Order: sequence, then C-alpha cells, then structure tokens
Amino acid sequence: MNDLGRLEDLPAEYRAALTKQNLVPLWPSLRALLPAGQPRPSTRATHWSYEALRPLLLRAGDLTPIEKAERRVLVLANPGHGLEKMQASAAMYLGMQLLLPGEWAPAHRHTPNAVRMIVEGDGAYTTVDGEKCPMSRGDLVLTPTGLWHEHGHDGDQPVVWLDVLDLPLVYYMEASYHVDGERQAVKPSRGDRAYARAGLVPTPVFERASSAYPMLRYPWANTRAALEALAAESSTSEAVQVTFVNPETGADAQNILGYRALMLRPGETLRLPVRSPAAVFHLIEGAAEARIGEHAFALAQSDTCCAPGFTAATLTNRFTATPAFFFIADETPLHRKLGVYEQR
Ligand SMILES: [Fe+2]
Repeated sequence: MNDLGRLEDLPAEYRAALTKQNLVPLWPSLRALLPAGQPRPSTRATHWSYEALRPLLLRAGDLTPIEKAERRVLVLANPGHGLEKMQASAAMYLGMQLLLPGEWAPAHRHTPNAVRMIVEGDGAYTTVDGEKCPMSRGDLVLTPTGLWHEHGHDGDQPVVWLDVLDLPLVYYMEASYHVDGERQAVKPSRGDRAYARAGLVPTPVFERASSAYPMLRYPWANTRAALEALAAESSTSEAVQVTFVNPETGADAQNILGYRALMLRPGETLRLPVRSPAAVFHLIEGAAEARIGEHAFALAQSDTCCAPGFTAATLTNRFTATPAFFFIADETPLHRKLGVYEQR
C-alpha cells in the first residue's frame, strides 16, 4: 500500500486557496477514513467500578438538588472518545442515575431511545406512555423514542439505575431534541403481565396490539427464570443467553441498540465471537472477569465495562458455586439494518 501525499507536502498558498473555497484535499485523510482491513475504533475497552462510582453519585445527591439537575446522572464516558463527548461507544451513551426518596424527575420525551437497567433500591417507578413501571434490581424498562416518561420514588432508600441511550448516534445525525410535558395520568395497564408467557400474546376479539412498543418492562424475576430454565435444559457447551424482543414481532425491543441477558454457569468461560458492533457488559449478579482485547477487568456486582467492535472478548464466572448474570447492550440492530454487520 503506497504512502499517500500529506497535507504539508502541498504549498501553503494552494492550501489557503482551497480553504477559501471550502475545499479539502481527500488524499491526506484517505487512509484514516478507510483504514486497511478493519476499523480503528476510538472506543477503548473501559471498566467502571460501581464501588468507586457509587459514593460519587450519592454525593451528587447532596450537592445538586433534583430541581437543579432534572436528571441526576454521572455519565460513564469512554476516554477513547474524550470524556467531554460523554459517549461509551460510537452509538451508545451510558449514565448512572440517582433518584432519592420523594424526588420527581419531570415528564419529557425525546428522539433518542433509552432503557433503564435497575442497579439498586426499591420503590421507584418510571411512568412510560401512561404505564407505571416499578423499578427493582435487574428489571429492564424501555423508554422508546417519542414516548413520554418521568421518574418518581415512593421508597425510603436511594435508587440507582443504568441508563443506556443511542444518544451519540442520534446527536451525530442532528436529530436529537426533547419536549417537556405535564405529569402523566397513569392508565390501567397489564404491562409486563400481558406478555408473561412466551409464544402467547393477548388478542382480544382477534386483534393484535397495534403499539410499536407493546412491552415496556421486563421484570428481572422473569429474565432470571428464563435463563435458569435454559441452563437446566441445555448442554454445558451451549451459551445461556436471551434477547429482549418486542413480543408482538420478535424483532429487537428497540430499533438501534440491542439488549440481552447472559448467564454464566459456575466457573464457566465464554469466548465471544469478534463482531463489528461495540458492546457493553453490566454484571447484574455475581463476580466475573472480562477479557477485552489486551485488557482484563475483574468485575464485581453492578460493574460495567465496554468493548469496541472488531475486538475479541471472553467472559468468565469467577465464582465456582453460583451463576453470574450479565446485562448486555450492543449496536447489533443498527449494524444489521445498515448492512455493515460482520462476524469474523
Ligand atoms: Fe429522558
């Protein structure tokens, strides 16, 4: 592969004449835009310890009242992109959000899609499109694009959850904005109970649900039970993983990011294939090791780490008597829809 001409090889007056006309020579940047063989991600394998971030998040509760924060969040920022970019990967944003007893995060809606993976505490809820979704550890609550959502807390202990949004992508597309709203009226809803049995969907008088997001809350008790049932039925060579889907269509629960839960049996090591999308691993329960490229992270419960695309990752359950449970967020739906998905 030849070396291409550099910007500094060009006469200064020629470069100035190009700039004046809003023109840029391609060849000095061509190799960076189209690197040989595979991308060079800015996303860096990064580990966020919950033990380290928790006291800082609780201090934010003392330092900044909810009225001054609206959403009290510490962003899990990837240093490879620069912390000020506040992104975990090219398309994913991660934040740890704190809501204290009695607090209220007012209603709004926005173009980016969000999900909440609850990390600790009980008694908080998110009202999404009028449906009140209780929040307990391991529950997944969707707040898809355009749907009103607000957070309240009737319990007596702090509640923390992990927000995952496709904000960096939607912002890059210049399509990111929000609208403030009034407190929502809660409507009677069967919520997650309407889709509690796989293979069965409600069809009152032969009608399927018409909503694009029929299921907004995936309770951890159901997810964990599904993983344990799969583990009991499968051979030990088979990975125990489920995907959060739209129960009406079977498609990914949201359009841009994908969400899964993974169980590692006691002592199990799982080598993940090298794939194009970046991925985030959040440990719901247990103790694990994540090897991502050259990096090895010891993960305690509620720790989070991220892996760039095109990078080998291996997950190991460090406990030999109890399973480990991961929540995984990744960019697979986006890559598949755009036709750039690869597994090597
Ligand atoms: Fe929001």
